[in-house]
Amino acid sequence: MPRHDTTTALVTGAAHGIGRAIARHLAREGAAVAVIDLDAEGAAETARLIQSEGGIAFSTGADITDMAAVTAAVDTCEAAIGPLTLLVNNAGFTDAGDLAGIGLEAWHKEVDVNLNGTYHCLRALLPRMQARGGGAVVNITSVNGVRYFGNPAYSAAKAGLINLTQSVASEYGRHGIRCNAVLPGSVRTDNITWRIRQEKDPQVFQKLARWYPMGRVAEPEDIAKAVSFLGSEDAGYITGVALPVDGGLLAGMNVMIGEFILESQ
Ligand SMILES: NC(=O)c1ccc[n+]([C@@H]2O[C@H](COP(=O)([O-])OP(=O)(O)OC[C@H]3O[C@@H](n4cnc5c(N)ncnc54)[C@H](O)[C@@H]3O)[C@@H](O)[C@H]2O)c1
Repeated sequence: MPRHDTTTALVTGAAHGIGRAIARHLAREGAAVAVIDLDAEGAAETARLIQSEGGIAFSTGADITDMAAVTAAVDTCEAAIGPLTLLVNNAGFTDAGDLAGIGLEAWHKEVDVNLNGTYHCLRALLPRMQARGGGAVVNITSVNGVRYFGNPAYSAAKAGLINLTQSVASEYGRHGIRCNAVLPGSVRTDNITWRIRQEKDPQVFQKLARWYPMGRVAEPEDIAKAVSFLGSEDAGYITGVALPVDGGLLAGMNVMIGEFILESQ
């Protein structure tokens, strides 16, 4: 039996990159999938791709920083594909590099999209899941939520999202709702950050690979597989965890150890 054949999922930010990969992966595993994104045309393209592969998909445009828009989008999605059983909070954004240089507006925007936007989606769906007796949530945060890798506003928001994951898990577990976080390291997408970095250095992903114990950055599908597991009954007793999907990046400083310690022995 396919892992998700009784799942009805909402994936935010699924017009591109990781979100699109998650939506397609869940659909291939049997889920009916609704996608919402600021980019309505990109979201529609994701739905078309899923439908062309024989899956059930619906899309609508919505800005997750707007609570009323999120509520309306959830209504529309549930009318189209049925009561949602899985929420994947994937929409996210950063383009502000360091703390000294960040402007006030950029700080607010990054916290608004990454943390407040996710809260809006939880606020819209948790009461519905509770009333229906259960559900699952997977929040896409980042290794930036637990270590400094630049992008401080984004990182603070992603750290907040890990704590928010624990709040949901703790308060809603008794209502049959599980909530977990996935922490990707570098993922090969063409989001604005990677686009700018690739323009500066087309070899950026190859150069980054040496910092990863597994010798490569992630593909979007690597993240989608982890989301599929955490969102499924295979993870039925797992809640409140923050799972790095980072090729071992957070496990240790292997490049530093290799260059400065093992080499000197
Ligand atoms: N790519 C990476 O290296 C990486 C690493 C760690 C975590 N992540 C996280 O994974 C998620 C997806 O990243 P990606 O690389 O696929 O990015 P992406 O830019 O390709 O996709 C993000 C999507 O979110 C949408 N979005 C942005 N703001 C929105 C809003 N206010 N309302 C609705 N939709 C909105 C965008 O339109 C876009 O389609 C993000 O949360 C990101 O922080 C990415």
